Amino acid sequence: MCGIVGYIGKNNAVKPLIDGLYRLEYRGYDSAGIALLTQDNIFLKKVAGRVNELDKAIRNEPLQSHIGIAHTRWATHGVPNDINAHPHTDCKNQIAVVHNGIIENFRTLKQFLVKKGHKFQSETDSEVIPHLIEEFYDGDLMAAVRKACSYIKGTYGFVIISLASPGYIIASRMGSPLVIGRGKGEYIVASDLAAIISYTNEVIYLKDGDIAEISSDHLRVEGCESGMVFPEIEKVNLTLEQIERRGYKHFMLKEIYEQPIILRDTIRGRLNYEDGIARLNGISNYIEDLRDADRIIIIACGTSWHAGLIGEYMIESLAEIPVEVEYGSEFRYRRPVLKKGTICIVVSQSGETADTLAALREAKRHGATVLGICNVVGSSIARETDAGIYIHAGPEIGVASTKAFMGQIMTFALLSLLLGRLRRLSVDEGRDIINAIEKIPDQLQSLLDKLPDKIKKLARTFKDHRNFLYLGRGYNFPVALEGALKLKEISYIHAEGYPAAEMKHGPIALIDKNMPVVVIAIKDAIYDKVISNIEEIRARQGIVIAVGSEGDTQLKKYVDYVIYVPETMDHLYPLLTILPLQLLAYYIADYRGLDVDKPRNLAKSVTVE
Ligand code: F6R
Repeated sequence: MCGIVGYIGKNNAVKPLIDGLYRLEYRGYDSAGIALLTQDNIFLKKVAGRVNELDKAIRNEPLQSHIGIAHTRWATHGVPNDINAHPHTDCKNQIAVVHNGIIENFRTLKQFLVKKGHKFQSETDSEVIPHLIEEFYDGDLMAAVRKACSYIKGTYGFVIISLASPGYIIASRMGSPLVIGRGKGEYIVASDLAAIISYTNEVIYLKDGDIAEISSDHLRVEGCESGMVFPEIEKVNLTLEQIERRGYKHFMLKEIYEQPIILRDTIRGRLNYEDGIARLNGISNYIEDLRDADRIIIIACGTSWHAGLIGEYMIESLAEIPVEVEYGSEFRYRRPVLKKGTICIVVSQSGETADTLAALREAKRHGATVLGICNVVGSSIARETDAGIYIHAGPEIGVASTKAFMGQIMTFALLSLLLGRLRRLSVDEGRDIINAIEKIPDQLQSLLDKLPDKIKKLARTFKDHRNFLYLGRGYNFPVALEGALKLKEISYIHAEGYPAAEMKHGPIALIDKNMPVVVIAIKDAIYDKVISNIEEIRARQGIVIAVGSEGDTQLKKYVDYVIYVPETMDHLYPLLTILPLQLLAYYIADYRGLDVDKPRNLAKSVTVE
C-alpha cells in the first residue's frame, strides 16, 4: 500500500517518476506527489486524487532534474488531501521524504520535535521523518538518517532527497518493501518492481534495517546496526507485457482470462502420473514433517484466507491431517498453542501483508516450522518462511484478487494430493486426481469461451440490487465467501457469504422477493441438502441464481437462473465454481460505472496493520 518511487541518474527524473507512479497506482490512489531537487531548492507538487491529476498539474512546467522522489498514497493517518499527500518536508524545505508504513510512536516523536521548535503542516505520521532528520543533521546525512531510524517504532520504507546532499538519494526499510533497480548511469528505487522493470532487470532487495545511499553510479548499503552490507544483485524475469492491460478494459478482466494459463503454470512439472503423486520441490526438505504433522495451521488474510479454508477441507479429507485456518490479524495477538509437530502454512499473494507477516514471525518465535504459499517471488513472506511453494500466477495488478486465488487453490490441490498419497491414497486414486487436475485449465477455458454473455445479462438484471446472499456447502462454502467478497469490494453492493445450511439460523430473515441468492449447487456429495436449502429460499420468494454441474437439467426446475460448470471431482469444483462469481462481480461493477481496478478505500497489498 502506497507506491514509492525515487530516481537518480543521467536523465530527467520526471518521466521515470510519473511513469513509475502510474504503474504503482494499484497500491494506493487517494493522492499523489512529487519532489525534485533543483539547483537551489526542492520543487514540490502534491494533489488529492489520482496520479493523472498530478501528471496534469505538472505537465506544462519546464521541470528538469536528475534527482527526485514521488508517491501515490493510501491514507492511514490524515484524510486524503493536498497537505497530507507525500512528499513531506522539514521546516526549511531542504529535506523531502516519501514514506510507506505506519510510525506507531509518531505522537511522542511529534511532541518531542514540536518542543524543539519544529513546525508541522500535515496530520500524517510520516511528517516526523523529515523533521527528525533535520533535528539530527550535523553535516552527515547518513548519520542523521541512521539516528532518525533508531527513534522510529513501527514500519517504514522511505526515500529521501536533501539539498545538503544533492548527489544522493537515501532509502531505508523496516517492514515495508523497497527494491532498487540498477540501470546504466541511473538507479530507481521503488516499493515494487512494477516501477522498475521498464528500465532494468538488475535489482537489489533491501532488507529490514538497511539504509542505502544511492548516487547515479554507486550504491552503498549499511545495515541499521551492523555497518556496511554487500547486497546481492538479482536478475528478475518480469516483463512489461505481464504488467500491461493488453487490450482488456481492466486488469481484473485480463487476470480472470489468464486463469487457464496460470493454472497450467502452477501445475507444470509438479505432477507425476506414474506414481500418482504431486512433486513440490520448494518444500522437499519438509515433506516428512508435513506427512507426520499432528496439526497444520493455515494463516492468511482476505481472499488468501478463503483459499486457506478450501485447503483445510482438501487436506483433511485427502490426507486426514487436522487443519485450522487463522486470520493473520487474529493469530498474531492470540497466544497460539504450537506444539512440536505443528506446521504453519502462510498464504499470501503479495508476500507483504503486514498481519500475515507478523503472524509468520510469531509462529517462528514459538519454534514452529513455517511454510509459505506465495505469488510474488522474493517478497518478505517468501524470504522469511522456512520453505515454500510459488503459485506462478505472474503479477496481479487488479486490486480484487482473482488469478492468485485460483493459483492458491490449485497449490492446495497439489499439496493435498501429495500428503494424501503419502498417508492413505492408492496410486490409482492419485492418478484419478491427476487426470481431473489436468483437465481443469481446459474446462476453465471452455467456460471463459461461453459464459460471459450469459453473465453480462445477469449483471444487467441485478446491478441495482442493494443486497446479495451467497451460499455454498463443503468445498464451495469458501467459494461463496469469496464470491460475496468480490462483489462487495468492487461494486459496493452489500453481500454476505454463508454456509447454505446456516442460513436458517438467521440470514433467512433477510430473504424476500428483492433478495438475489447465489447458490453453488453442484452435483457433489451434499447436492440433495443444497436443493433443500434452495427450496427454503424459494418458499420465501427469494431469487435463486444457481451454479450447477453440466448435465443436471433438474436444477432448472428449482431455481430462477442457472449457470453450468463442467463436472470434476468434489474437491476440485472450487476451481470452476469461482469463475462465474468473479465474472458476475466484475460485470456488475462495470455496468455500475465503477473503477473496477481501483475500488474505493482499497489498495493492493496491505502492508500496514
Ligand atoms: C481481495 C484481496 C484481499 C487480499 C488480502 C491478502 O480481493 O485481494 O482480500 O487477499 O489483502 O493479501 P495477500 O494475499 O497479498 O496477503
